[in-house]
Amino acid sequence: MRAITFNVFRFDPASGAPSRLVPYTVNVNEGARVLHVLHAIHDELDPTLSYRYCCGSGQCGSCAVRVNGEPALACMEEAQDGMTILPLNLPVKKDLVVDLLPKLEQIASLQPKEALVMPTKADIDAIKPLRDCIECLSCVSVCPAMDVTKFIGPTAMRQEQRLALDPRNASDRIPVAIEEGLFFCTTCQACLKVCPKKIETPGKAIEKLRSLANQRGFTLPRHQEVATLVRETGRSVPRSEPTFLEQVGDVVEPIGTPKATVGFFVGCMYNMRLPKTALDAIEVLKRNGIRVIIPKEQVCCGSPLIRTGQLSFVDTLKKRNIDTFRFRKIDTVMTMCAGCGSTLKNDYKTPFAVMDISEVLTKYGIEPPARLPVTATYHDPCHLMRGQGIKDQPRELIRQVVDLVEMPSICCGSGGGVRSGNPDEAAALGARRGAEIKKTNADVVISSCPFCEFHIAGHTEKPVKNITTVLLEGYKEKDRKAGVEPERSVKGK
Ligand code: SF4
Ligand code: SF4
Ligand code: FES
Repeated sequence: MRAITFNVFRFDPASGAPSRLVPYTVNVNEGARVLHVLHAIHDELDPTLSYRYCCGSGQCGSCAVRVNGEPALACMEEAQDGMTILPLNLPVKKDLVVDLLPKLEQIASLQPKEALVMPTKADIDAIKPLRDCIECLSCVSVCPAMDVTKFIGPTAMRQEQRLALDPRNASDRIPVAIEEGLFFCTTCQACLKVCPKKIETPGKAIEKLRSLANQRGFTLPRHQEVATLVRETGRSVPRSEPTFLEQVGDVVEPIGTPKATVGFFVGCMYNMRLPKTALDAIEVLKRNGIRVIIPKEQVCCGSPLIRTGQLSFVDTLKKRNIDTFRFRKIDTVMTMCAGCGSTLKNDYKTPFAVMDISEVLTKYGIEPPARLPVTATYHDPCHLMRGQGIKDQPRELIRQVVDLVEMPSICCGSGGGVRSGNPDEAAALGARRGAEIKKTNADVVISSCPFCEFHIAGHTEKPVKNITTVLLEGYKEKDRKAGVEPERSVKGK
């Protein structure tokens, strides 16, 4: 047995008293789950504590709560001393019990066809990844799009795609899904991250429904414009100034002995809209012994098309990009755009490894820059943190040059085609991000994604910079203090 203390959310609307966190200490067996601790608190200390459970084995979904802020099944999460237990971020009925019914009632049911139709094995296989939902509503409790729009939410969308795939279902789900807010999802992947069944709602439901909508001609006009641009130019944004690829050589040699060689997949935004940031990155790589090969034939990774369900041209882009790096016998391709990196890692089958620039720099180590006299906060790009599981490496780099003030990791609203397709929603999420930034009192906002950097800059008065730009500022300060003349040469060979 061991003693465990939990801080548990208590709230009884009938009492009129405000909610509060109450510490409870109980003795439980080694390996006890959160649910066992709640049982012990209820049985030994306070029988008025309300919480839900049924199966006790991760099958019914009724016990979902927030453990230290993150949704989890109480019956599956191992209890740790000092945990804070909150209800899901849904209307609270009492203590840890939330009102699930309004959201559960929105999940569509199968409407059978008059004639008997049997699903084929292919149908069953297609539906399988979507049918394990235990209706815990963890995903619903974290979805940012639901906070600012009438989006019906991830699990209801999951069900729409399940029904769209089921030959026994009579109703046309695509117009319904569009009405329910199919194009409001930012593809932030927050729902996938918290799902106890690891249901890939963004990729296997939302994007697939958007693809079916595309086949029916329902793609949003702004998204169609992007697809046309990609077909005509190979790029998802128009050219407005000399691009990054026009300003660099095919190979940029590092200063000193090379520690590693990488191919650089720059992405449309850094190539066309923010070339200076990509040039900053090259300077940082040069200084840290990374030899960079930059094939000029590379094109858009296809992310803007995949996220919006416009798939007909995607295989052409993939082949072009894969061949571009493969023909040069490059075994590691580096990205610095979170969206491109996530796409290359998750939507491509590449014959080479793909690494984000923060992975490359932390793997091979960096020369310490001078510390800058500013505090910074860091915005986790969804497609870096959740799409690639990269959270620590950017922080490791940032802490070497400035003091870091953390803020909650929330979606800025620029992904999934939302910024172009639903600008009001993107602005509402951007404003929320801006408010969190303000609370930190940081001098500067750092991120690692051109879409986030571009979008957040419109919702904060503070400068928004890429990690590599801040590192480069640290190196320039170091050189200034040492009296070294600044040099900038990325022309390469
Ligand atoms: S990916 Fe993000 S916005 Fe889309 S349904 Fe999931 S949580 Fe909501
Ligand atoms: S999709 Fe996952 S997180 Fe959402 S209700 Fe179903 S099981 Fe829970
Ligand atoms: S009690 Fe059924 S999933 Fe936890």
